Amino acid sequence: MDFTFSEEQLMIRDAARDFARRELLPEVNYRDKHAIFPDQQVKALAELGFMGMMVSPEYDGGGMDTISYVLAMEEISKVDAAAGVIMSVNNSLVCWGLEIYGTEEQKQKYLKPLARGEKLGAFLLSEPEAGSDATSQRTTAVDMGDHYLLNGTKNWITNANCASIYLVIAQTDREKGHHGINALIVEKYTPGITLGPHEEKMGMRSSDTHSVMFTDVVVPKENRIGEDGFGFKFAMRTLDGGRIGIASQALGIASGAFERALQYSKERKAFGKPISQHQAVAFKLSDMAVKIEAARYFCLKAAWLKDQNQNYGIASAMAKQYAADSAMEVTTEAVQIHGGYGYVADYHVERLMREAKLTQIYEGTSEIQKIVISRSLLTE
Ligand code: CAA
Repeated sequence: MDFTFSEEQLMIRDAARDFARRELLPEVNYRDKHAIFPDQQVKALAELGFMGMMVSPEYDGGGMDTISYVLAMEEISKVDAAAGVIMSVNNSLVCWGLEIYGTEEQKQKYLKPLARGEKLGAFLLSEPEAGSDATSQRTTAVDMGDHYLLNGTKNWITNANCASIYLVIAQTDREKGHHGINALIVEKYTPGITLGPHEEKMGMRSSDTHSVMFTDVVVPKENRIGEDGFGFKFAMRTLDGGRIGIASQALGIASGAFERALQYSKERKAFGKPISQHQAVAFKLSDMAVKIEAARYFCLKAAWLKDQNQNYGIASAMAKQYAADSAMEVTTEAVQIHGGYGYVADYHVERLMREAKLTQIYEGTSEIQKIVISRSLLTE
Protein backbone atom coordinates (compact mmCIF):
# COMPACT_ATOMS: atom_id res chain seq x y z
CA MET A 1 0.00 0.00 0.00
CA ASP A 2 1.33 3.38 -0.98
CA PHE A 3 0.02 6.31 1.04
CA THR A 4 2.01 9.00 -0.77
CA PHE A 5 0.31 11.47 -3.08
CA SER A 6 1.80 12.29 -6.46
CA GLU A 7 3.15 15.76 -7.12
CA GLU A 8 0.19 16.46 -9.34
CA GLN A 9 -2.29 15.44 -6.63
CA LEU A 10 -0.53 17.69 -4.12
CA MET A 11 -0.58 20.59 -6.57
CA ILE A 12 -4.32 20.16 -7.05
CA ARG A 13 -4.88 20.02 -3.28
CA ASP A 14 -2.79 23.16 -2.76
CA ALA A 15 -4.56 24.99 -5.57
CA ALA A 16 -7.94 24.12 -4.02
CA ARG A 17 -6.74 25.18 -0.55
CA ASP A 18 -5.39 28.46 -1.82
CA PHE A 19 -8.54 29.17 -3.84
CA ALA A 20 -10.80 28.39 -0.88
CA ARG A 21 -8.95 30.76 1.44
CA ARG A 22 -8.66 33.52 -1.13
CA GLU A 23 -11.98 33.37 -2.96
CA LEU A 24 -14.47 31.52 -0.78
CA LEU A 25 -13.63 32.44 2.80
CA PRO A 26 -14.10 36.25 2.73
CA GLU A 27 -17.88 36.23 2.22
CA VAL A 28 -18.90 32.69 3.03
CA ASN A 29 -20.99 33.60 6.08
CA TYR A 30 -22.62 36.49 4.23
CA ARG A 31 -23.62 34.25 1.33
CA ASP A 32 -24.92 31.66 3.78
CA LYS A 33 -26.95 34.19 5.76
CA HIS A 34 -28.57 35.69 2.68
CA ALA A 35 -28.71 32.47 0.62
CA ILE A 36 -26.67 34.00 -2.22
CA PHE A 37 -25.45 31.64 -4.91
CA PRO A 38 -21.63 31.89 -5.33
CA ASP A 39 -21.82 32.75 -8.99
CA GLN A 40 -18.39 34.38 -9.45
CA GLN A 41 -16.73 31.73 -7.32
CA VAL A 42 -18.22 28.90 -9.41
CA LYS A 43 -16.93 30.61 -12.57
CA ALA A 44 -13.49 30.79 -10.96
CA LEU A 45 -13.71 27.09 -9.99
CA ALA A 46 -14.44 26.36 -13.65
CA GLU A 47 -11.33 28.30 -14.69
CA LEU A 48 -9.30 26.07 -12.36
CA GLY A 49 -10.77 23.05 -14.16
CA PHE A 50 -12.65 21.95 -11.04
CA MET A 51 -16.14 21.67 -12.56
CA GLY A 52 -15.19 18.76 -14.81
CA MET A 53 -12.16 17.48 -12.95
CA MET A 54 -12.33 13.82 -13.94
CA VAL A 55 -13.63 14.26 -17.48
CA SER A 56 -11.04 13.37 -20.09
CA PRO A 57 -9.34 16.30 -21.91
CA GLU A 58 -10.91 14.93 -25.12
CA TYR A 59 -14.21 16.29 -23.76
CA ASP A 60 -12.67 19.46 -22.32
CA GLY A 61 -12.29 18.07 -18.80
CA GLY A 62 -9.31 18.22 -16.44
CA GLY A 63 -8.35 14.55 -16.84
CA MET A 64 -7.66 14.32 -13.10
CA ASP A 65 -8.09 11.19 -11.00
CA THR A 66 -10.63 10.56 -8.25
CA ILE A 67 -7.98 10.90 -5.52
CA SER A 68 -7.38 14.48 -6.70
CA TYR A 69 -11.13 15.04 -6.65
CA VAL A 70 -11.30 13.92 -2.99
CA LEU A 71 -8.41 16.23 -2.09
CA ALA A 72 -9.99 19.22 -3.85
CA MET A 73 -13.46 18.55 -2.44
CA GLU A 74 -12.05 18.41 1.09
CA GLU A 75 -10.27 21.75 0.71
CA ILE A 76 -13.23 23.53 -0.88
CA SER A 77 -15.77 22.14 1.62
CA LYS A 78 -13.54 22.95 4.59
CA VAL A 79 -14.28 26.58 3.84
CA ASP A 80 -17.56 26.59 1.88
CA ALA A 81 -19.51 23.35 1.69
CA ALA A 82 -22.19 24.96 -0.49
CA ALA A 83 -19.55 25.56 -3.18
CA GLY A 84 -18.52 21.95 -2.53
CA VAL A 85 -21.93 20.51 -3.34
CA ILE A 86 -22.31 22.64 -6.49
CA MET A 87 -18.97 21.26 -7.65
CA SER A 88 -19.74 17.69 -6.57
CA VAL A 89 -23.10 17.51 -8.36
CA ASN A 90 -21.61 18.79 -11.61
CA ASN A 91 -18.61 16.47 -11.44
CA SER A 92 -20.03 13.26 -10.04
CA LEU A 93 -23.74 13.24 -10.75
CA VAL A 94 -23.78 14.89 -14.16
CA CYS A 95 -20.43 14.79 -16.01
CA TRP A 96 -19.48 11.27 -14.93
CA GLY A 97 -22.61 9.54 -16.21
CA LEU A 98 -22.57 11.48 -19.47
CA GLU A 99 -18.97 10.54 -20.14
CA ILE A 100 -19.43 6.86 -19.30
CA TYR A 101 -22.86 6.20 -20.80
CA GLY A 102 -23.57 9.11 -23.17
CA THR A 103 -23.48 8.89 -26.95
CA GLU A 104 -20.80 10.81 -28.86
CA GLU A 105 -23.42 13.40 -29.83
CA GLN A 106 -24.52 13.81 -26.21
CA LYS A 107 -20.92 14.25 -25.12
CA GLN A 108 -20.20 16.86 -27.79
CA LYS A 109 -23.39 18.78 -27.11
CA TYR A 110 -23.78 18.50 -23.33
CA LEU A 111 -20.67 17.10 -21.67
CA LYS A 112 -18.17 19.55 -23.15
CA PRO A 113 -19.78 22.78 -21.87
CA LEU A 114 -20.46 21.08 -18.52
CA ALA A 115 -16.85 19.96 -18.19
CA ARG A 116 -15.62 23.45 -19.05
CA GLY A 117 -17.98 24.77 -16.36
CA GLU A 118 -19.67 27.07 -18.88
CA LYS A 119 -22.91 25.30 -18.06
CA LEU A 120 -24.02 23.70 -14.84
CA GLY A 121 -25.88 20.43 -14.46
CA ALA A 122 -28.38 18.99 -12.00
CA PHE A 123 -29.41 15.43 -11.20
CA LEU A 124 -33.15 14.95 -10.75
CA LEU A 125 -34.00 11.73 -8.96
CA SER A 126 -35.75 12.59 -5.67
CA GLU A 127 -39.49 13.14 -5.65
CA PRO A 128 -42.00 14.25 -3.04
CA GLU A 129 -42.76 10.59 -2.34
CA ALA A 130 -39.65 8.87 -3.66
CA GLY A 131 -36.54 10.08 -1.88
CA SER A 132 -34.88 7.06 -0.33
CA ASP A 133 -37.06 4.58 -2.24
CA ALA A 134 -35.74 5.46 -5.67
CA THR A 135 -37.61 2.70 -7.55
CA SER A 136 -40.96 4.32 -6.70
CA GLN A 137 -40.63 7.07 -9.32
CA ARG A 138 -43.89 8.89 -10.07
CA THR A 139 -42.51 11.19 -12.77
CA THR A 140 -43.47 9.67 -16.11
CA ALA A 141 -41.63 9.74 -19.42
CA VAL A 142 -44.21 8.37 -21.84
CA ASP A 143 -42.75 6.95 -25.05
CA MET A 144 -44.34 8.90 -27.93
CA GLY A 145 -42.28 7.38 -30.74
CA ASP A 146 -39.65 9.99 -31.56
CA HIS A 147 -39.82 11.70 -28.15
CA TYR A 148 -40.78 11.25 -24.51
CA LEU A 149 -43.47 13.29 -22.80
CA LEU A 150 -42.34 14.15 -19.31
CA ASN A 151 -44.75 14.87 -16.44
CA GLY A 152 -44.20 15.01 -12.70
CA THR A 153 -42.35 16.75 -9.88
CA LYS A 154 -38.79 16.40 -8.60
CA ASN A 155 -37.81 17.60 -5.15
CA TRP A 156 -34.73 18.92 -3.35
CA ILE A 157 -32.83 19.52 -6.56
CA THR A 158 -29.37 20.99 -6.05
CA ASN A 159 -28.41 23.51 -8.79
CA ALA A 160 -32.03 23.53 -10.03
CA ASN A 161 -32.08 27.22 -10.91
CA CYS A 162 -28.49 27.82 -11.96
CA ALA A 163 -28.20 24.63 -14.01
CA SER A 164 -29.19 24.59 -17.65
CA ILE A 165 -28.79 20.84 -18.19
CA TYR A 166 -30.84 18.37 -16.19
CA LEU A 167 -30.42 14.61 -15.96
CA VAL A 168 -33.94 13.41 -15.15
CA ILE A 169 -34.82 9.92 -13.94
CA ALA A 170 -38.41 8.98 -14.86
CA GLN A 171 -40.72 6.02 -15.20
CA THR A 172 -41.60 4.92 -18.76
CA ASP A 173 -43.22 1.57 -18.05
CA ARG A 174 -44.60 1.08 -14.55
CA GLU A 175 -45.31 -2.61 -15.18
CA LYS A 176 -41.58 -3.23 -15.52
CA GLY A 177 -40.72 -1.70 -12.13
CA HIS A 178 -37.14 -0.46 -11.99
CA HIS A 179 -36.49 -1.95 -15.47
CA GLY A 180 -39.03 0.57 -16.84
CA ILE A 181 -37.10 3.66 -15.69
CA ASN A 182 -35.14 5.94 -18.05
CA ALA A 183 -32.54 8.67 -17.66
CA LEU A 184 -33.11 11.68 -19.91
CA ILE A 185 -31.07 14.78 -20.69
CA VAL A 186 -33.46 17.71 -20.46
CA GLU A 187 -32.61 21.30 -21.31
CA LYS A 188 -33.92 23.54 -18.56
CA TYR A 189 -35.45 26.10 -20.89
CA THR A 190 -37.73 23.56 -22.59
CA PRO A 191 -41.39 24.68 -22.46
CA GLY A 192 -43.37 23.08 -19.61
CA ILE A 193 -40.65 23.29 -16.92
CA THR A 194 -41.33 25.39 -13.84
CA LEU A 195 -39.44 25.75 -10.58
CA GLY A 196 -40.77 25.85 -7.05
CA PRO A 197 -39.50 28.55 -4.67
CA HIS A 198 -35.93 28.58 -3.39
CA GLU A 199 -35.83 26.20 -0.39
CA GLU A 200 -34.86 27.97 2.84
CA LYS A 201 -32.47 25.28 4.03
CA MET A 202 -30.93 24.96 7.47
CA GLY A 203 -27.41 24.76 6.00
CA MET A 204 -25.60 25.09 2.66
CA ARG A 205 -27.99 27.94 2.17
CA SER A 206 -26.12 29.48 -0.73
CA SER A 207 -26.51 26.37 -2.85
CA ASP A 208 -29.54 26.58 -5.02
CA THR A 209 -32.29 24.06 -4.14
CA HIS A 210 -35.78 23.95 -5.67
CA SER A 211 -38.43 21.52 -6.73
CA VAL A 212 -38.87 21.19 -10.50
CA MET A 213 -42.23 20.57 -12.17
CA PHE A 214 -42.64 19.04 -15.63
CA THR A 215 -45.87 19.49 -17.59
CA ASP A 216 -45.98 17.80 -20.99
CA VAL A 217 -42.29 18.46 -21.57
CA VAL A 218 -41.08 17.11 -24.91
CA VAL A 219 -37.71 15.35 -24.71
CA PRO A 220 -36.19 14.03 -27.95
CA LYS A 221 -35.51 10.29 -27.99
CA GLU A 222 -31.83 10.92 -28.70
CA ASN A 223 -31.59 12.49 -25.23
CA ARG A 224 -32.11 9.16 -23.47
CA ILE A 225 -28.96 7.86 -21.79
CA GLY A 226 -28.27 4.19 -22.51
CA GLU A 227 -30.76 1.54 -23.55
CA ASP A 228 -34.49 1.72 -22.81
CA GLY A 229 -34.96 0.82 -19.12
CA PHE A 230 -31.36 1.57 -18.07
CA GLY A 231 -32.32 4.61 -15.99
CA PHE A 232 -32.43 3.02 -12.54
CA LYS A 233 -29.05 1.33 -12.86
CA PHE A 234 -27.68 4.54 -14.35
CA ALA A 235 -28.89 6.42 -11.26
CA MET A 236 -27.48 3.85 -8.83
CA ARG A 237 -24.08 3.79 -10.54
CA THR A 238 -24.02 7.57 -10.65
CA LEU A 239 -24.80 7.74 -6.94
CA ASP A 240 -21.96 5.30 -6.18
CA GLY A 241 -19.55 7.96 -7.42
CA GLY A 242 -21.61 10.84 -6.05
CA ARG A 243 -21.20 9.39 -2.58
CA ILE A 244 -17.41 9.73 -2.86
CA GLY A 245 -17.97 13.43 -3.53
CA ILE A 246 -20.32 13.92 -0.58
CA ALA A 247 -18.13 11.82 1.71
CA SER A 248 -15.22 14.12 0.80
CA GLN A 249 -17.43 17.13 1.38
CA ALA A 250 -18.29 15.79 4.87
CA LEU A 251 -14.59 15.18 5.47
CA GLY A 252 -13.88 18.80 4.55
CA ILE A 253 -16.60 20.11 6.85
CA ALA A 254 -15.19 18.04 9.74
CA SER A 255 -11.60 19.07 9.11
CA GLY A 256 -12.61 22.73 8.75
CA ALA A 257 -14.37 22.61 12.13
CA PHE A 258 -11.47 20.74 13.69
CA GLU A 259 -8.86 23.27 12.53
CA ARG A 260 -10.93 26.08 14.00
CA ALA A 261 -11.49 24.24 17.30
CA LEU A 262 -7.80 23.38 17.60
CA GLN A 263 -6.75 26.97 17.03
CA TYR A 264 -9.37 28.36 19.38
CA SER A 265 -8.46 25.88 22.13
CA LYS A 266 -4.85 27.06 22.06
CA GLU A 267 -5.84 30.71 22.31
CA ARG A 268 -8.71 30.62 24.78
CA LYS A 269 -7.66 30.54 28.41
CA ALA A 270 -9.71 29.26 31.35
CA PHE A 271 -8.63 28.46 34.89
CA GLY A 272 -5.18 29.90 34.20
CA LYS A 273 -4.24 27.97 31.04
CA PRO A 274 -5.29 27.44 27.42
CA ILE A 275 -8.34 25.20 27.32
CA SER A 276 -6.38 22.75 25.11
CA GLN A 277 -4.36 21.99 28.23
CA HIS A 278 -7.45 20.71 29.99
CA GLN A 279 -7.87 17.01 29.43
CA ALA A 280 -11.62 17.40 28.80
CA VAL A 281 -10.77 19.44 25.69
CA ALA A 282 -7.58 17.62 24.70
CA PHE A 283 -9.41 14.28 24.59
CA LYS A 284 -12.15 15.80 22.45
CA LEU A 285 -9.50 17.04 20.01
CA SER A 286 -7.91 13.61 19.92
CA ASP A 287 -11.26 11.88 19.20
CA MET A 288 -12.04 14.41 16.48
CA ALA A 289 -8.64 13.89 14.80
CA VAL A 290 -9.07 10.10 14.81
CA LYS A 291 -12.51 10.34 13.18
CA ILE A 292 -11.25 12.73 10.51
CA GLU A 293 -8.28 10.55 9.67
CA ALA A 294 -10.49 7.46 9.43
CA ALA A 295 -12.98 9.32 7.20
CA ARG A 296 -10.09 10.43 4.99
CA TYR A 297 -8.93 6.84 4.52
CA PHE A 298 -12.47 5.74 3.66
CA CYS A 299 -12.74 8.46 1.01
CA LEU A 300 -9.33 7.77 -0.47
CA LYS A 301 -9.94 3.99 -0.53
CA ALA A 302 -13.20 4.44 -2.46
CA ALA A 303 -11.50 6.89 -4.83
CA TRP A 304 -8.54 4.57 -5.35
CA LEU A 305 -10.84 1.64 -6.16
CA LYS A 306 -12.66 3.81 -8.70
CA ASP A 307 -9.38 4.89 -10.28
CA GLN A 308 -8.31 1.23 -10.49
CA ASN A 309 -11.59 0.35 -12.25
CA GLN A 310 -12.53 -1.90 -9.36
CA ASN A 311 -15.96 -2.14 -7.74
CA TYR A 312 -16.34 0.86 -5.42
CA GLY A 313 -20.08 0.89 -4.59
CA ILE A 314 -19.72 -0.55 -1.08
CA ALA A 315 -16.57 1.45 -0.34
CA SER A 316 -18.34 4.67 -1.34
CA ALA A 317 -21.38 3.84 0.82
CA MET A 318 -19.05 3.17 3.77
CA ALA A 319 -17.16 6.40 3.12
CA LYS A 320 -20.40 8.40 2.88
CA GLN A 321 -21.91 6.92 6.03
CA TYR A 322 -18.77 7.23 8.14
CA ALA A 323 -17.67 10.65 6.91
CA ALA A 324 -21.16 12.16 7.23
CA ASP A 325 -21.84 10.74 10.70
CA SER A 326 -18.41 11.74 11.95
CA ALA A 327 -18.76 15.23 10.43
CA MET A 328 -21.87 15.65 12.56
CA GLU A 329 -20.01 14.47 15.68
CA VAL A 330 -16.86 16.49 15.00
CA THR A 331 -18.71 19.74 14.23
CA THR A 332 -20.87 19.32 17.35
CA GLU A 333 -17.71 18.98 19.45
CA ALA A 334 -16.15 21.97 17.67
CA VAL A 335 -19.14 24.09 18.74
CA GLN A 336 -18.82 22.72 22.29
CA ILE A 337 -15.12 23.60 22.47
CA HIS A 338 -15.94 27.15 21.38
CA GLY A 339 -18.65 27.46 24.07
CA GLY A 340 -20.89 30.49 23.50
CA TYR A 341 -18.68 31.70 20.64
CA GLY A 342 -19.41 28.47 18.81
CA TYR A 343 -23.07 29.33 18.72
CA VAL A 344 -22.63 32.58 16.79
CA ALA A 345 -21.86 32.98 13.10
CA ASP A 346 -18.49 34.80 13.34
CA TYR A 347 -16.66 31.66 14.41
CA HIS A 348 -17.94 29.56 11.49
CA VAL A 349 -18.37 26.32 13.44
CA GLU A 350 -22.15 26.71 13.84
CA ARG A 351 -22.42 26.95 10.03
CA LEU A 352 -20.19 23.91 9.61
CA MET A 353 -22.42 22.00 12.06
CA ARG A 354 -25.53 22.92 10.04
CA GLU A 355 -23.74 21.88 6.87
CA ALA A 356 -22.68 18.54 8.35
CA LYS A 357 -26.32 17.64 8.96
CA LEU A 358 -27.12 17.71 5.26
CA THR A 359 -24.34 15.25 4.44
CA GLN A 360 -26.23 12.68 6.53
CA ILE A 361 -29.32 13.26 4.41
CA TYR A 362 -28.63 13.81 0.71
CA GLU A 363 -27.33 11.33 -1.87
CA GLY A 364 -28.81 8.66 0.38
CA THR A 365 -29.25 9.08 4.12
CA SER A 366 -26.87 7.32 6.49
CA GLU A 367 -29.60 4.69 6.84
CA ILE A 368 -29.62 4.12 3.04
CA GLN A 369 -25.85 3.54 3.15
CA LYS A 370 -26.47 0.92 5.84
CA ILE A 371 -28.99 -0.78 3.56
CA VAL A 372 -26.45 -0.85 0.73
CA ILE A 373 -23.65 -2.15 2.97
CA SER A 374 -25.72 -4.73 4.89
CA ARG A 375 -27.27 -6.12 1.69
CA SER A 376 -23.84 -6.71 0.26
CA LEU A 377 -22.80 -8.52 3.45
CA LEU A 378 -25.91 -10.69 3.47
CA THR A 379 -25.78 -11.64 -0.21
CA GLU A 380 -22.08 -12.49 -0.38
N1 CAA B 1 -25.05 -0.30 -9.34
C1 CAA B 1 -25.66 -0.98 -10.33
N2 CAA B 1 -26.86 -1.58 -10.18
C2 CAA B 1 -27.48 -1.45 -8.98
C3 CAA B 1 -26.90 -0.74 -7.91
C4 CAA B 1 -25.62 -0.15 -8.13
N3 CAA B 1 -25.01 0.54 -7.15
N4 CAA B 1 -27.75 -0.79 -6.85
C5 CAA B 1 -28.81 -1.50 -7.24
N5 CAA B 1 -28.64 -1.91 -8.52
C6 CAA B 1 -29.53 -2.72 -9.33
C7 CAA B 1 -29.79 -4.07 -8.69
O1 CAA B 1 -28.80 -5.01 -9.09
C8 CAA B 1 -31.16 -4.43 -9.24
O2 CAA B 1 -31.02 -4.86 -10.58
P1 CAA B 1 -31.68 -6.25 -11.11
O3 CAA B 1 -33.12 -6.25 -10.70
O4 CAA B 1 -31.45 -6.22 -12.57
O5 CAA B 1 -30.92 -7.31 -10.41
C9 CAA B 1 -31.84 -3.08 -9.31
O6 CAA B 1 -30.80 -2.10 -9.38
C10 CAA B 1 -32.72 -2.81 -8.12
O7 CAA B 1 -31.93 -2.89 -6.97
P2 CAA B 1 -32.54 -3.05 -5.52
O8 CAA B 1 -33.56 -4.16 -5.52
O9 CAA B 1 -31.40 -3.13 -4.57
O10 CAA B 1 -33.34 -1.68 -5.41
P3 CAA B 1 -34.15 -1.08 -4.19
O11 CAA B 1 -35.43 -0.56 -4.69
O12 CAA B 1 -34.20 -2.05 -3.06
O13 CAA B 1 -33.29 0.24 -3.77
C11 CAA B 1 -31.53 1.53 -2.77
C12 CAA B 1 -31.98 0.22 -3.48
C13 CAA B 1 -30.03 1.34 -2.59
C14 CAA B 1 -32.16 1.73 -1.41
C15 CAA B 1 -31.81 2.73 -3.70
O14 CAA B 1 -33.20 2.97 -3.80
C16 CAA B 1 -31.13 4.01 -3.24
O15 CAA B 1 -29.91 4.17 -3.42
N6 CAA B 1 -31.87 4.96 -2.67
C17 CAA B 1 -31.36 6.26 -2.28
C18 CAA B 1 -31.48 7.22 -3.41
C19 CAA B 1 -30.69 8.46 -3.15
O16 CAA B 1 -29.53 8.44 -2.83
N7 CAA B 1 -31.35 9.61 -3.34
C20 CAA B 1 -30.70 10.85 -3.24
C21 CAA B 1 -31.02 11.68 -4.42
S1 CAA B 1 -29.72 12.42 -5.28
C22 CAA B 1 -29.24 13.79 -4.41
O17 CAA B 1 -29.41 13.89 -3.24
C23 CAA B 1 -28.50 14.75 -5.26
C24 CAA B 1 -28.31 16.10 -4.72
O18 CAA B 1 -29.03 17.00 -5.06
C25 CAA B 1 -27.13 16.40 -3.88
